[in-house]
Amino acid sequence: RLLIIDFGSQVTQLIARRLRELNVFCEILPYQAVTDAKLAEIAPLAVILSGGPDSVTREGSPRAPDSLWTLGVPVFGICYGQQVMMQQLGGQVEAGHHAEYGRAYVTPAEGHRGDGIFAGLFPDGREQVWMSHGDRVTRIAPGFEVIGTSPNAPLAMIADEARRFYAVQFHPEVHHTPNGAQMLENFVRLAGFTGDWTMASYRDEAIRKIREQVGDKRVICGLSGGVDSSVAAVLIHEAIGDQLTCVFVDHGLLRLNEADEVVTMFRDNYNIPLIHADESDLFLTALEGVSDPETKRKLIGKLFIDVFQREAAQIDGAEFLAQGTLYPDVIESVSFSGGPSVTIKSHHNVGGLPEKMGLKLVEPLRELFKDEVRALGRELGLPDSFIGRHPFPGPGLAIRCPGEITREKLEILRKADAVFIDQIRRHGLYDDIWQAFVAILPVRTVGVMGDGRTYDFACALRAVTSVDGMTADYYPFSHEFLGETATRIINEVRGINRVTYDITSKPPGTIEWE
Ligand code: XMP
Repeated sequence: RLLIIDFGSQVTQLIARRLRELNVFCEILPYQAVTDAKLAEIAPLAVILSGGPDSVTREGSPRAPDSLWTLGVPVFGICYGQQVMMQQLGGQVEAGHHAEYGRAYVTPAEGHRGDGIFAGLFPDGREQVWMSHGDRVTRIAPGFEVIGTSPNAPLAMIADEARRFYAVQFHPEVHHTPNGAQMLENFVRLAGFTGDWTMASYRDEAIRKIREQVGDKRVICGLSGGVDSSVAAVLIHEAIGDQLTCVFVDHGLLRLNEADEVVTMFRDNYNIPLIHADESDLFLTALEGVSDPETKRKLIGKLFIDVFQREAAQIDGAEFLAQGTLYPDVIESVSFSGGPSVTIKSHHNVGGLPEKMGLKLVEPLRELFKDEVRALGRELGLPDSFIGRHPFPGPGLAIRCPGEITREKLEILRKADAVFIDQIRRHGLYDDIWQAFVAILPVRTVGVMGDGRTYDFACALRAVTSVDGMTADYYPFSHEFLGETATRIINEVRGINRVTYDITSKPPGTIEWE
């Protein structure tokens, strides 16, 4: 395997992701954990040193273990990793006053072009790269030579070909270095990796880790029916069987037939012990007369935790709480914690719950990105139609029902939403869309059907494209599609007599209506 020594960069997981895309098995360990003994135990085939926020010129700053340099395996240093390599091998690094952030262009040094670490690179003579560093190397260590330069970074790429040590000042793992993945691929090929690792191996490794962490203790998993918690549940169940109990809190704000589908799939198809806490009455009664979006969210979040805690308390001897936390959630909570950011919407989750209940966390998806979770889900045999489902918010239909929530409105909304999604599937558009749904509006409008007057609700269709939900654009349906959908909704759903299409992007809008 390949070992990534993490010096604390925000993007270390991206290195791992690029390697998984190359079907190379890797492990990330924080630098503190990589002692000489640990390194000998892992016996990696290659090592990558990540970037990091510290300065190697600072007394006591992080280092790689000394034995790394005599292990005889290829080493690739990125940014801080480059500086560590130079500092430890006899080069020189200078602090401050050379800060450089953003795009730069690297060209190969004289005589370095074409093969080895450069295979497939520099087709146009230069490569765009992403720089983000405060310090820089000012003298290279003995044995190294410069193999690539940029106008502001004369030592952008350096190498000791004999020892197979490579180091770069920029970040090859990020998208802003378009051919960075090729550079990492060249490195792993040179280190002898053939790329035969697969998601199946990831699954086996994840199962091994869960068993090791949990032992013979019991685990509780909050199941929402979403992709992340479902994949986590199925994976954990494979690892520890009926030591896992899932708790599905049904707040009565799910889509048409959704609760039944969740229960059938997990209880009947997967034989996972599942508690279905059907609490629609509790939630809907509490929501009566509430129309402020934040009040709705807070109320639902609080009740959810109450119910979950109550159900979990029934499970004897539970010591762990499983969560489908993904890597982007981890980065967000790190980079935004303590920042002066404004709450746009208080997202509903079970944060703080483990401490309150005295439980330890099991988070088997913590290293993965959404598309990798989907791949893992497929590997675990979850149906494609399930894996590819659009995201659905924790507070459910409550935030698609601006104004007061009533059972009548929810009923209408469920039917209209089902027709819209059916239309999208029939036209083969589902996978082109990030998220699509109907919102029922708190207004009634006048219409005419047959010879009679109607006075019913208006609804809005919402469909957006997005890569991460942070920004979004409305989906450009054809007029025929929109017309056909409006007709179907009005004909098939009693209670709606007007259909509109929301063409707001995000920003300035948000995806959900509340
Ligand atoms: P907005 O409406 O903020 O939504 O543009 C961005 C993405 O987040 C989802 N969303 C939520 N997900 N709990 C969730 O689990 C929430 O409270 C919540 N609010 C919004 C939304 O569906 C979209 O995918």
